[in-house]
Amino acid sequence: RVPEPCALVVFGITGDLARKKLLPAVYDLANRGLLPTNFALLGFARRDWDDVDFAELSREAARQHARTPWREEVWERLSNSVRFIQGSFDDDDAFDELARTLGELEGSHGIGGNAAFYLSIPPSMFPVVLKQMQRTGMAESTTDRWRRVVVEKPFGTDLPSSRELNGLVDSVFDADDVFRIDHYLGKETVQNLLALRFANTLFEPVWNGAHVDSVQITMAEDVGIGGRAEFYERTGAARDVLQNHLLQLLALTAMEEPVEFSAEEIRTEKLKVLRAVSVPTDMARFAVRGQYEQGWLAGQRAKGYRQEDGVSEESRTETYAAVRLGVETRRWAGVPFYLRTGKRLPRRVTEIALSFRKAPHLPFAPTDTEELGHNQLVVRVQPDEGVTLKFGSKVPGSVMEVRDVSMDFLYGEQFTEASPEAYERLLLDVLLGDATLFPRNAEVEASWAVIDPLEEYWASTTPFPYRAGEWGPRAADEMLASEGRAWRRP
Ligand code: BG6
Repeated sequence: RVPEPCALVVFGITGDLARKKLLPAVYDLANRGLLPTNFALLGFARRDWDDVDFAELSREAARQHARTPWREEVWERLSNSVRFIQGSFDDDDAFDELARTLGELEGSHGIGGNAAFYLSIPPSMFPVVLKQMQRTGMAESTTDRWRRVVVEKPFGTDLPSSRELNGLVDSVFDADDVFRIDHYLGKETVQNLLALRFANTLFEPVWNGAHVDSVQITMAEDVGIGGRAEFYERTGAARDVLQNHLLQLLALTAMEEPVEFSAEEIRTEKLKVLRAVSVPTDMARFAVRGQYEQGWLAGQRAKGYRQEDGVSEESRTETYAAVRLGVETRRWAGVPFYLRTGKRLPRRVTEIALSFRKAPHLPFAPTDTEELGHNQLVVRVQPDEGVTLKFGSKVPGSVMEVRDVSMDFLYGEQFTEASPEAYERLLLDVLLGDATLFPRNAEVEASWAVIDPLEEYWASTTPFPYRAGEWGPRAADEMLASEGRAWRRP
């Protein structure tokens, strides 16, 4: 499906996100024939540029980071309708010019007045930008045109601030016109979780506490904080990714079947899970924070977090967080959901692993099954996207020895189509007005309600150190060991 004629306005166009993700996504959509013929791209920033400078930067960004092959003619067509508005966010004149430019494009480029505004800016800037949009009447959808806003995470820093922000956004835009991005929902494998669960008969009967022993959701990164010290010092791993990406993965793993595959129904089911999440009462044991110290990664020395440029030597910001959550529903009561995320871990991997209960009885001699673990179903979100089933099998030979083996489904082997980048998919959905893959504000708030008590506990603690290149602090291993379990080493 191709969206109606429209404009995309990006605030914060000179930032990393715009350069590495948004501009390439616009090009990829155009290249796949998924943008309307009448389309305009507008950038808004303080930088002293004109339309030509902006078009040139966008071309370079798209060329460097696009997923689809480069075709100059695709870009040529796009660049005819690229506009740059120079100004700061409190500059009335700049917003008046933006409104005027949109009006002009409506006539000259036939965009029909439809526009999506992407706020690729720090949340502290939201109020001033939203108020400008309200002042200039830019935020109003009418029967003839739609106006939508896209906001990036982190959406607030805790429940009260996120409520305030939600209130503000909702006072300017209609609730249906607000798209809160969690780019993990744009990943193919994350969407496949729903296909796996609800398009098959094999998995659902065992997808519950009667059969599942525990669930592990891991988002590990080998990179450090890059040049984002200022943001990261304020945020930390729990607010940066546990509050959003990991809790969304938990919600999709634990939710009930939606009545239909629609935004309303899927969001409703996810919200029920998020509301049912329980935090540990024994925080000291089940909520662990860590911070990386100098170490080695892929044969290279990596500096410690406190030595990164822009980070305080006494910083108590966590770069690792692990927690044991519960989901208090009939399906999941009693099943621990262990979530962990960290920077400077040995490798980049995101996965959801369901570990099944052990067989109640084994008719083999104990020595024959020494290498037999739990049956596991692992959904690998990235890299090597796919699904792995781990189960016991007889080792060939004259004795009865049983050992774990695995059966793999790899996207790259089964499908030849290159999957779209998460931002490409989500941007298309914004222009189409399909909110299925965007969390509702109630979900964001329910997620903060999970994070706030953890943050409150952590506020008086210092994160445990771990060496760069290791799988997090020892306390995180002890957390699982105390329950007779161990983290997977993917
Ligand atoms: C972002 C976080 O939301 O996700 C970053 O702010 C993190 O800290 C990034 O590096 C990871 O995204 P991906 O798609 O590379 O796994």
